[in-house]
Amino acid sequence: MDSAAPLAGSLAIVRTVAELRARVRIWRAGGERVGLVPTMGALHDGHLSLVARAQEDCDRVVVTLFVNPKQFGPNEDFARYPRDESADAAKLGAAGADLLYAPDVAMMYGDGFATTVTVVGLTDGMEGAVRPGHFAGVATVVAKLLNQAGADDAYFGEKDYQQLAVIRRLADDLDIATRIHGVPTVREADGLALSSRNAYLTNDQRKIAPALQRGLAAAAAALAGGAAVQSTLDAACAAILKAGFDAVDYVELRDAYTLASLSTLTRPARLLAAARLGKTRLLDNLAVDPR
Ligand code: PAJ
Repeated sequence: MDSAAPLAGSLAIVRTVAELRARVRIWRAGGERVGLVPTMGALHDGHLSLVARAQEDCDRVVVTLFVNPKQFGPNEDFARYPRDESADAAKLGAAGADLLYAPDVAMMYGDGFATTVTVVGLTDGMEGAVRPGHFAGVATVVAKLLNQAGADDAYFGEKDYQQLAVIRRLADDLDIATRIHGVPTVREADGLALSSRNAYLTNDQRKIAPALQRGLAAAAAALAGGAAVQSTLDAACAAILKAGFDAVDYVELRDAYTLASLSTLTRPARLLAAARLGKTRLLDNLAVDPR
């Protein structure tokens, strides 16, 4: 075999909690540190940056692949969400991940499943307002994945900033021992944040898409220069629409840690936005620091 070819075959795949736990137990008993990277598949370089970060910290990296029905609303894209396990496994093999955990729905949510993890407050606005029930689905599956794996560390993208805050909160509140890490957003050359949902964009929509990041970057620069918050958010919204987006769900300035709404820039903050191109929703966010 060509030694440069990706060693996709070297990536073990398990589908049950028992097999996952057995592997992790052996590694940890041998003194190895185990990192966990939860995903819904359709892997891109953003996901692979989480794997790379986990490899820096840990001896073994477990990636999970589960398209979680509980975090999709009735009119959302669960059925058409891109799924290609063998392509994902090949990418992970080439990246040097150690294990892929890919359970099915019956394994995750067995007969009689009746528990929901709800994080209040942090989930009120933004994605929580536009997608009712979404964060309960995320929190429930992430709590399960963290408990199932019992890893030392787990890695999540800043790309989904509100999700990251919800996961930090639930891990803290439920005394989950796994350390939660946030990893910076990976972008295309034109600034568009990588996302599995970018695959839905037509060529014309793809050309418009980077305007979301550009609108946020302009707003972040204005705020850092002392501009008033509300008029800056309104201007960002107008610029994103003018560039060709069909709707803006929100552009908000929040405290970087608590996600409390900010009407003045007095502490480290985050600008967060979601906008629609046709049926596709794109999310992005940027850090904004006070002068
Ligand atoms: P998914 O959308 O597949 O994303 C998996 C992880 O990759 C998340 O932590 C997400 O924030 C991160 N990610 C996505 N795009 C990124 C980018 N451009 N740069 C850096 N990281 C990026 O998020 C989920 O799945 C699910 O909600 C999950 C947490 C797996 C629970 O089902």
